[in-house]
Amino acid sequence: MRLILIGPPGAGKGTQAAFLVERFGLVTVATGDILRAARQAGTPLGLQAKEYMDRGALVPDEVVIGLVRERLSQPDTVNFLLDGFPRTVPQAEALDGLLAELGRPLDAAVLLEVPEELLIDRLTGRYTCRSCGAVYHLKDHPPLRPGVCDRCGGELYQRSDDSPETVQRRLRVYREETAPLVDYYRRRGILRTVDGTGTVAEVTDRILAVLGAAPR
Ligand code: AP5
Repeated sequence: MRLILIGPPGAGKGTQAAFLVERFGLVTVATGDILRAARQAGTPLGLQAKEYMDRGALVPDEVVIGLVRERLSQPDTVNFLLDGFPRTVPQAEALDGLLAELGRPLDAAVLLEVPEELLIDRLTGRYTCRSCGAVYHLKDHPPLRPGVCDRCGGELYQRSDDSPETVQRRLRVYREETAPLVDYYRRRGILRTVDGTGTVAEVTDRILAVLGAAPR
C-alpha cells in the first residue's frame, strides 16, 4: 500500500502514521523528521532547513523533492507512507512524476480535518522524544514520568516551531500552500477525508474504514 497523509500542523499525521506503518508494514518517509535529524546532526541541509523551520516557513521545494526522490528510489520503499510530503502543488507534481517512473502509484491521500482551535491546543502542548520520536501531549497523552519517554526512557522536548506565534504562521502557510492539494487529489479520485477530532483510536478507526481495511 502507498499512502500520503495530508493535514494541517497538529492534525495527528505523525501519531496516526506510527499505527498505520505497523499495521500495513509500510516504510515511513516523514520530511519534517528527516529535516529535524539533519538539523540535529548539523549537516549543510540541516543548517539550510533550520532558517525556514524556525520561522514556520516551508523549506524550498527543490530541497525537499530531492530528499524524497532519493529515499523513494531505494528498493525498500515499494510500500510507503508519506507524512508531511507533498506540501505544495509543485511537490505533488514531482511526486507523480517520480512514482510514474518507478511504477508505484499512490493508493490513497488521507486528509485529516481538525478545527484550528484544537490544532493550536495540540501543538502548544506537544512533547516529542529526542531519541525515538514518540509524541506526547501535556493534557491528552502525558508520559508516565514528566519529561521522560515511556517507550525508551529518552528526554522529551518541545519543538522550537511549536511556540504560539510560529504555530499561527504554520497554519497560514498550510492554508495558502498546502490546502490546494485537497482539490489536486480529489480530482485524481484518491482523496479520503477523515474527521481528525476525537481520541487517537477513534481517528485510527475512521482511517481504517476509509481505506476499506479490517477494524483494529
Ligand atoms: P512537520 O514535522 O511535517 O510538521 P507539521 O506538518 O507541521 O505537522 P506536525 O508534526 O506539527 O503535526 P502532526 O500532524 O504530525 O501532529 P502530531 O501527530 O505530532 O514539518 C515541520 C517543518 O518542516 C515545516 O514547518 C517545514 O518548515 C518543514 N517541512 C517538512 N516537510 C516539508 C515539505 N514537504 N516541504 C517544505 N517544508 C517542509 O500530533 C500533534 C499533537 O496532538 C501531539 O501532542 C499528539 O499527541 C496530539 N494528538 C494527535 N492526535 C490526537 C488526538 N486524536 N487527540 C488528542 N491529541 C492528539
